[in-house]
Amino acid sequence: MISEKLAKALNDQVNAEFYSAYLYLSMSAYTEGSGLKGAANWLYIQTREETAHAIHMYQYLIDRGVNPSLPAIEAPETNFTGLQDVFEKTLAHEQKVTERINKIATLAMKENDHACYQFIMWFVNEQVEEEANATDILTKLKMIGDNKGLLLSLDTELAARIYNNPFPTDAKLSGGGAAKA
Ligand code: FEO
Repeated sequence: MISEKLAKALNDQVNAEFYSAYLYLSMSAYTEGSGLKGAANWLYIQTREETAHAIHMYQYLIDRGVNPSLPAIEAPETNFTGLQDVFEKTLAHEQKVTERINKIATLAMKENDHACYQFIMWFVNEQVEEEANATDILTKLKMIGDNKGLLLSLDTELAARIYNNPFPTDAKLSGGGAAKA
């Protein structure tokens, strides 16, 4: 049986993952409006990934005998001053998410909940990639500066991102929607 404290931490993280999805959708809307369709695509795929993270955790709570609660999702920021600002905020956001995920891993370890520890370790590793991706794009944006031609090249690069379901064996996320056996 998962502890109440750990279940609450995971349930709070479901909400935080949906907030992440909402934040990236807000950023995607902003970049779409700025004519940077490639960046809008990249951020929209980020929204889909965050939604998958939320649903995967939601399903895990159900699998552990917990009925997830779904409180309101905080409204995301809508004021951005350019693509560099968007990716500075992306990196800062992911660093905060890493802290939250690490706290859940520490709690699972403290409580000797090996199953939950193993579950959350996927997210611990994912955060390394999340921070690396944001850092990589931010580094390029800093090099690009005010060069519009180079910005458009980066936008073309971001347009090439495709969505890969991070949890292909998760029935809720594989498109089938079949109940788990
Ligand atoms: Fe759910 Fe951006 O990590």
